Amino acid sequence: MLDLYQEAKESFGTSKQGEAVSVYLLQNKNGMKVRVTDYGASLVSIIVPDKNGSMTDVLLGYDNVTGYETHTCYFGAVIGRNGNRIANAQLTINGTVYSLDQNDNENNLHSGVKGMDAKVWAVKQATDTSITLTCKSADREQGFPGNMDAQVTYVLTDDNAVEIHYEAVSDQDTVANFTNHAYFNLSGHGSGDVLGQELMLRASHFTPVIDAKAIPTGEIAPVAGTPMDFTTAKTIGRDIASDDIQIGYGGGFDHNFVLDKAEKGAFELMAQAYAPDTGIEMKAYTDLPGVQFYSGNFVTEQEGKQGAVYGKRHGFCLESQYFPNSVNEPGFESPILKAGEVYRTKTSYQFGVR
Ligand code: BGC
Repeated sequence: MLDLYQEAKESFGTSKQGEAVSVYLLQNKNGMKVRVTDYGASLVSIIVPDKNGSMTDVLLGYDNVTGYETHTCYFGAVIGRNGNRIANAQLTINGTVYSLDQNDNENNLHSGVKGMDAKVWAVKQATDTSITLTCKSADREQGFPGNMDAQVTYVLTDDNAVEIHYEAVSDQDTVANFTNHAYFNLSGHGSGDVLGQELMLRASHFTPVIDAKAIPTGEIAPVAGTPMDFTTAKTIGRDIASDDIQIGYGGGFDHNFVLDKAEKGAFELMAQAYAPDTGIEMKAYTDLPGVQFYSGNFVTEQEGKQGAVYGKRHGFCLESQYFPNSVNEPGFESPILKAGEVYRTKTSYQFGVR
């Protein structure tokens, strides 16, 4: 079988536009390996030891750029300049109305058609344990105001964390709300669904949605007494078939959770996940106010890395973010980046075993 992953930098194929795409290897002193491609600055694999020391790839992905171009699930990609939905694909900044791409019913999802997830980023630096990639988005690209320079750095630490550092600047006031769309499966990426894996979310509230189009109502509702209550770890599958209307709208979990924070901007634990079979545990941290927990409800059957077959709920996402539609929702923390100011945030996924 093709092993793309022995060298620090290898070809990952050629994009439809004829660009050469590469994949980079990061590894730490514990033998943990992470692959990143310059296509979408996407995480391709995260290989960690399980409780028996067997190396396990816990990330869904594809073997080459063509897989990423063909499929629409955003596996491992950086989403920019705005993650999640903007209602009616419209926003108003300083009194000017901007119309965005409509790519999810009448709404804008993950910035629109050909977001930063579907561009080849420039590699600014790469070492054994880190890589920095940059991407430009022009004024009015997908409808957003301002020329934006974005930068993402992945750092693989010796305590088995994958840190993601985001930076962006724009020459006009605009939206900056980056995330990473990694799909995790802590039993291994080709091992079937994630329903038996445990999840804790450090969130005593969530933002209910209006309907299946998944725009928040604007309310910040308690999770207590609902299937959204992950404040104590439970399996992802336990309440996923509930007849709760919010679960119905999402076709499972596909909601923004309001993180319990000691103070605004604090870099703190947002979630903890665990697979009993491999013993692999993941702790996720962020300085952002929210996290979209998406249980992979819309992943259709498809071939992934190295012949693996993926399908519905074979991976889960923990997308750190400003709340969906926060640009239009005065009650939500604003994702507006002022001209000339630096947007800087950090999210980290740390692995261990139990
Ligand atoms: C959204 C889902 C969507 C998925 C893939 C998630 O962030 O919340 O509704 O299906 O991305 O596009």
